[in-house]
Amino acid sequence: MILIVGGAGYIGSHTCVQLLNAGHEIVVVDSLSNSKYESIKRIKEITGKEFKFYQIDLLNKNELELVFKENKFDAVVHFAGYKAVGESVEKPLKYYQNNITGTIHLCELMSEYNVKKMVFSSSATVYGIPKQVPIVETAPLQATNPYGRTKLMIEEILQDLYVSDSDWSIAILRYFNPIGAHISGKIGEDPNGIPNNLMPFITQVGVGKLEKLKVFGNDYPTVDGTGVRDYIHVEDLANGHLKALEKILASTGLDAYNLGTGSGYSVLELVNAFEKVTGIKIPYEVVDRRPGDVAVCYADPTKAEKELGWKAELGIERMCEDSWRWQSLNPNGYEVNELVTNTKTKQ
Ligand code: UD1
Repeated sequence: MILIVGGAGYIGSHTCVQLLNAGHEIVVVDSLSNSKYESIKRIKEITGKEFKFYQIDLLNKNELELVFKENKFDAVVHFAGYKAVGESVEKPLKYYQNNITGTIHLCELMSEYNVKKMVFSSSATVYGIPKQVPIVETAPLQATNPYGRTKLMIEEILQDLYVSDSDWSIAILRYFNPIGAHISGKIGEDPNGIPNNLMPFITQVGVGKLEKLKVFGNDYPTVDGTGVRDYIHVEDLANGHLKALEKILASTGLDAYNLGTGSGYSVLELVNAFEKVTGIKIPYEVVDRRPGDVAVCYADPTKAEKELGWKAELGIERMCEDSWRWQSLNPNGYEVNELVTNTKTKQ
């Protein structure tokens, strides 16, 4: 039995589907503070499988303990955390409280109930401003904002935990830039308000919810002056969790892995690929650089391939095609269905 914390979110929901399809039994905990219950229904719809769902915030340790009392877990996949860089600069304490305290509660209970196996969602953000690309796991770590610092601190907490007790088995997954959606178009990324990230912004321009894309700077030392990132299909990313889970179930230790494709695309290359695949024009204007952005960031994913037997398979066209299917089938994300559910409840 695998506990998935934050399983209603974007990457969590895709991972739930893959774990269920691989025959794992799961229990999902999510506060739904940044996700919708509808995604849980859709996971069940896609897989035809049932599982328990608890709406619990990790900050509420007593409620969380009930989950450990009621179920016997073999491992935990930990996705839960706030992730908006800009907001983290404005409200650092909210980020430290939620991401760090929440993780400590989870680890305390894992330790107490002897569930010492964890896959943790980290981010390429822990590399800060990379001195060299492709980025290898041994590159210097550095945070450039409170959100990034929570990821880095949690990595360090997990490291300390492992040093203190070598029964732990931990895989830290450093995500590059996840985009795409499940091929069914039933689950996908559903950001609150105006998206911070590039692909949801593009798809919302595509459906007409936003007028045009703002390209943050075209004077970077890159192929066309716009920022280069390692976009990775969320299905490949989810599969990385499955592989990491299999590894930690079979061993002890602590390791960090880059989950990226190893190739970088510029903002305009991604826009062009999207237009080509969908036939939809994305109007854009170039504006100032976004503070804190780096010019180029892409992974060396060799370690994950060697040690987890994992490699990204899906290319940029599939990423665009699947992001678009999700957005066009769900122009308001999960929201419409939430309203329908609410109306029904009220009747
Ligand atoms: C961002 C976060 C990173 C976090 C990741 C989660 C920042 C500085 N970094 O990564 O910490 O882990 O999301 O997914 O916020 N762009 C535009 N116009 C837009 C949006 C983005 O031109 O409206 C450009 C950016 O300048 C960048 C690229 O698109 O070159 C990708 O941006 P984004 O999707 O926000 O991801 P990151 O900044 O790489």
